[in-house]
Amino acid sequence: MSNKTENSQDYLNLSTNTREVAVARDTAESYMEHLFEVPGYFSRLDAELFAHCCREQHDLGVEGDLLEIGVWYGRSAVLLGFLKFGSEQLHVNDLFGQLPKTETGRSELEQAGPIKLPTTDDFLGHYLRYHDSNPVIHRGPSTEVRDDLAKGTYRFIHIDGSHTQEAVAHDIKLARELLKEGGIIVFDDYSNTDHLGVAAALWPALAESDIAPFAATPSKLYATLGLQQAGEYRQDLLSWANQHDLLVREQTVNNSKLLSLRTKFNRVNWIANRIKRSLPNRLRRMVAAERF
Ligand SMILES: C[S@@+](CC[C@H](N)C(=O)[O-])C[C@H]1O[C@@H](n2cnc3c(N)ncnc32)[C@H](O)[C@@H]1O
Repeated sequence: MSNKTENSQDYLNLSTNTREVAVARDTAESYMEHLFEVPGYFSRLDAELFAHCCREQHDLGVEGDLLEIGVWYGRSAVLLGFLKFGSEQLHVNDLFGQLPKTETGRSELEQAGPIKLPTTDDFLGHYLRYHDSNPVIHRGPSTEVRDDLAKGTYRFIHIDGSHTQEAVAHDIKLARELLKEGGIIVFDDYSNTDHLGVAAALWPALAESDIAPFAATPSKLYATLGLQQAGEYRQDLLSWANQHDLLVREQTVNNSKLLSLRTKFNRVNWIANRIKRSLPNRLRRMVAAERF
């Protein structure tokens, strides 16, 4: 993609959608200060990367809907709600309290122990604290939602539903059908030894398709369509990562170069974050807003 606007780093200067972008930027960033108030599995580093990737897509003129498979209580979905621009929509899919229909799905749930699966109301209870309206909700296993989603119209897809090999293999195929040119797919837990089915499904599927990874964090793998587009996102991310004092390593997998990104361990920040997270919500909000 090469129709990048001149002031690509300064998206506040874009001539179109200026007001929406400025508002979204502000609220996405302020939500990141409250990320851990929504129960879930989503790191600050990935939140920053989601936001950066979406802004980069906006700069490149890549428009389309966003989809998350697997929302839990909405930690990452709330952020995605801030990262849609103009008339774009956020679609979310989850079991929302339904029991998985496959044997492996049920056994995945048993392994997780006695947990309460969030219902649609549980999810919306969090989502609507940050947004005025619902996202488009698709309730049920991801294997049953294909007909409700328009092919080739999504620009950002986060796959974070069932982590079994069969479900991930299905979700990758679905995402490939739904993704448009310039679109980004993010795969959760590609290297988590508690969920080996993800890697087992992911790497062969990538090797056989035109989905090219361009970045990896400890929890998520970021990919797009085609090596050229992957190269452009990788280059952009490299300069962003260097500005953010991250540990960066370049690697080659399946002929695709990708960056692995990690936050540097900082003992003072780590202790400060632990203290912040243990504070009651109200006090935490005051600390985040520096109201002392
Ligand atoms: C790891 S959690 C998602 C975490 C979430 N993205 C966050 O930010 O915290 C996985 C979610 O996938 C859902 N899930 C499990 N099996 C599914 C399936 N077959 N289809 C859709 N969602 C599924 C679970 O109900 C759960 O909410």
